[in-house]
Amino acid sequence: MPDDLVNLTVDGVPVSVPKGTLVIEAAKQAGVLVPHYCYHPGLPVAGVCRMCLVDIEKAPKLQIACATQVAEGMVVRTQSAQAKSGRMGVLELLLINHPLDCPICDQAGECELQDFTFQEGRPATRYSPDYAKRFNPVEDFGPDVLYVPNRCILCTRCVRFMEDVAKEPVLNVSERGDRAYIGIHSEGRLDHPWAGNVVDLCPVGSLLSKDFLHKARAWELDKAASICTGCSQGCNITLDTRENVVVRVRPRPNLEVNRYFICDHGRMNYRWMNRGDRIEAPLVRRGSELHATDWDEAFDVVASRLRGAGGKAVALVSPKASTEALYFARELFRGLEWSGAFQLVMGEEAPLAGVPNLALRAERAPNGRGAELLGYGQDYAAAVAAAETASLVLVLDEPDIAVRTAGALIYVGTVLPEGARHAQVVLPIANVAEEEGTFVNRDGRVQRYFQAKAAPGMARPAWWVFSELLVTLSGGGHVGTAAEAFDRLAASVEAFRGLSYPRLGFAGASV
Ligand code: SF4
Ligand code: SF4
Ligand code: FES
Repeated sequence: MPDDLVNLTVDGVPVSVPKGTLVIEAAKQAGVLVPHYCYHPGLPVAGVCRMCLVDIEKAPKLQIACATQVAEGMVVRTQSAQAKSGRMGVLELLLINHPLDCPICDQAGECELQDFTFQEGRPATRYSPDYAKRFNPVEDFGPDVLYVPNRCILCTRCVRFMEDVAKEPVLNVSERGDRAYIGIHSEGRLDHPWAGNVVDLCPVGSLLSKDFLHKARAWELDKAASICTGCSQGCNITLDTRENVVVRVRPRPNLEVNRYFICDHGRMNYRWMNRGDRIEAPLVRRGSELHATDWDEAFDVVASRLRGAGGKAVALVSPKASTEALYFARELFRGLEWSGAFQLVMGEEAPLAGVPNLALRAERAPNGRGAELLGYGQDYAAAVAAAETASLVLVLDEPDIAVRTAGALIYVGTVLPEGARHAQVVLPIANVAEEEGTFVNRDGRVQRYFQAKAAPGMARPAWWVFSELLVTLSGGGHVGTAAEAFDRLAASVEAFRGLSYPRLGFAGASV
């Protein structure tokens, strides 16, 4: 066993962890969650809430697991009578002034104060029903953050995030003792591009998102692992849906990409996933009008157009399309003289100063790198010019399309933009929340996203649409799942060789 590993037991379970590990983290290795409030792995240790009290053999009194390092032979007991009564006392103290407003609190159902009180708090208060709890009015802290001081347990996670991670120290602990509350600098506002993280970090319902305010109860939500489409950083997120509507975006930890955080641009970038004006059936042109049809007819029409393309084709694709879709779109043109391009919307870069290599990136699309690896270029103007000659033009979900062509326009998208109304065929596809797929972020990390809600009408994932078109065109086997689509891609594109969905897992892998 290497010298820098330390052996200890937590609740009788032996574990070996690197020297310097905190007891609270070692306990996780043993499958034990020590109750805690102020501790967060993405923030400096503060040791202020005292909720993580544990019994350590030979120590003269209870120790806080979040600020105690492991030692060889240490014996930690989280469930001894002494440890449980210590934590029960801490909870009683926290609840003296905490209002009993769980029924109207957004955090209810995902509140650590609720959970730990249920798990190991006192069954009833020892205070008289006449005791008047502390009261302070709700404060507006910033564009998307409300502060409800009555619920605050002064864990200082929000203060430490703004000070040590965002490096914009606008929050503080004002006053002392039972009058203490979180203050905001008189000229400050919580409008930093990453400020919304304080809402996720707050273990109780004291910091709330205005955007999510009273939208849903936590237990009504379905959750799906996804990847943010707001820029090329590729932050890992969870999409929360309620009755098939995306209602909230939250960070999903990935230490290699976004640690525990997302920026506010990404957090708010979800309403378009719920658009009601979707294309719901394949459309084919008959005379001057587009008519709804079934997939078989639509595939036949596109296949005959491809066969009659005169050997030339142009693909104008979205850098928000999945890697699988971009791969099968290009496979359609095998044997043709073709060019493919995508255009990038650019914005301002906004780094999170305390975390290396994490920023809202100027490139506001998740899969520009994936498109490049698959042979699409960035000379969009040249591709649009080429589209004007007698080629077939395939457009993949590009809402700003303004292409005139003497050939046939095939539009594959989620909504039908004005500039594509003259298309010969329109094929409806799922958006990122409605399918499985992968993106490649700016650092070459391939990451999976999962389906969060159902696609409307006959809309299908773009990889399925293109793979079925390939079958109509040239035979071969059907592709049944996104995993199979990715396997085909990995088998034929060198950069992806050896990768598969199981290998990518929830954290992704580099190309
Ligand atoms: S507002 Fe929330 S995160 Fe900030 S100190 Fe209070 S309980 Fe902690
Ligand atoms: S940095 Fe980019 S990927 Fe990350 S949350 Fe913001 S917009 Fe999304
Ligand atoms: S979590 Fe250890 S003192 Fe707060």
